[in-house]
Amino acid sequence: MKYEELLQTYPESPRLHYAKAQALDSLAESQRSNKHLEEAIAAYQRTMSSKNVPEKLYLLAGKRAADRLRFRGFSGKSVKLLTEMAEKFPLDIDLKNQVAIGYLLIGQNQLAKKVLLEALKVAPDSGFAKVHLGFILKTDESNYEDSIKYLSEGIATRETGVIDGRFYFHLGDALHRIGKKQEALKVYEDAVKEGLFLSVYQRSLYNVDNLTGKPWWNPQSTRYAPDFKILEKNWITIRDEALSLINEKYSGFMPETEGLQEKGVWKQLELFSRGRKIEKNCLKAPKTCTVISQIHDAASCKRGQVKFSIMHPGTHVWAHTGPTNCRLRAHLGLIIPEGASIRVADETRKWEEGRVILFDDSFEHEVWHNGSTYRLVLIIDFWHPELSIYQKRSLTPI
Ligand code: OGA
Ligand code: MN
Repeated sequence: MKYEELLQTYPESPRLHYAKAQALDSLAESQRSNKHLEEAIAAYQRTMSSKNVPEKLYLLAGKRAADRLRFRGFSGKSVKLLTEMAEKFPLDIDLKNQVAIGYLLIGQNQLAKKVLLEALKVAPDSGFAKVHLGFILKTDESNYEDSIKYLSEGIATRETGVIDGRFYFHLGDALHRIGKKQEALKVYEDAVKEGLFLSVYQRSLYNVDNLTGKPWWNPQSTRYAPDFKILEKNWITIRDEALSLINEKYSGFMPETEGLQEKGVWKQLELFSRGRKIEKNCLKAPKTCTVISQIHDAASCKRGQVKFSIMHPGTHVWAHTGPTNCRLRAHLGLIIPEGASIRVADETRKWEEGRVILFDDSFEHEVWHNGSTYRLVLIIDFWHPELSIYQKRSLTPI
């Protein structure tokens, strides 16, 4: 490579190191080569440590190196590099914001929060810092009031990166949870106008265009009707298998962890997830897993799960929206006492024992159980019936 020769003569030239890094960077991209990518990263870092490197070039090389480290999967190293840079340039708001994103990506939300608060001290109007801080306050701390302030102020700046479905999603949700339903609706309407949600009720963020979207489906008029017959024919076997687990100490039922409950007790036992059997749980519920294995568009649904869901009396699940419009969600009623109901969009229904109901969980839905004994259903996700075989193969799992 011609840069090597030149570098023999000018080993401390930051521009040469930078040019070499860029050449390797392009090569890595066109050849999809990790080896060249790592060499490019090293050359960017060598640029930064060259004698007399101009500030601008130091920052350019450093930001690209951090970006490429993250792309390569070395997120921890990426944050470390950005942190070092941010310490050198404490007034550079973009660097602080990038450090925060880095921490969010490695799940260190509290560290991200700390950096964002520092960023807002330096640049009190940074919309980018505000939306990310608001996001953390909402999702990590359920601090609705403050999250609303930061998310709405951040979105209002319309800076690059703030017009994002996730921020509208959590802003609306925070407003809803403190009872400001009209304001939540307004946020959802804005997001629809921005093209971020399919509709005010259908707020999933991982979507395929042009799929029929409606809250409730009639199970018998889909091509999955024979599959629902299989489920309904086996419902007692499925129920008894679930019942045999419920009283077991190590049954594998886990409390719902996405912060969707206002109150009560709601637990799930996952049998399939992202199109794969969960072996250790299927050992506990082998008959149910055998039934599901016969149902191809459920067992192979990479954007869904199959799980038992048990809900105790006194539970309220906040109105919420699933992540994708690529699935339809069936519930097979197993133990259905009085007092439990589910609303999807504008229509509230009840389960029946031994019967399947079918809805699209990318539409807002809400669940109440005001009865006196627990309610048990089997949740089975199916691929949206309009997806092609090619789409089902190529969609990323959720
Ligand atoms: C769902 C859901 C709650 C329940 O299936 O998406 O929110 O009743 N269900 O188990
Ligand atoms: Mn749900």
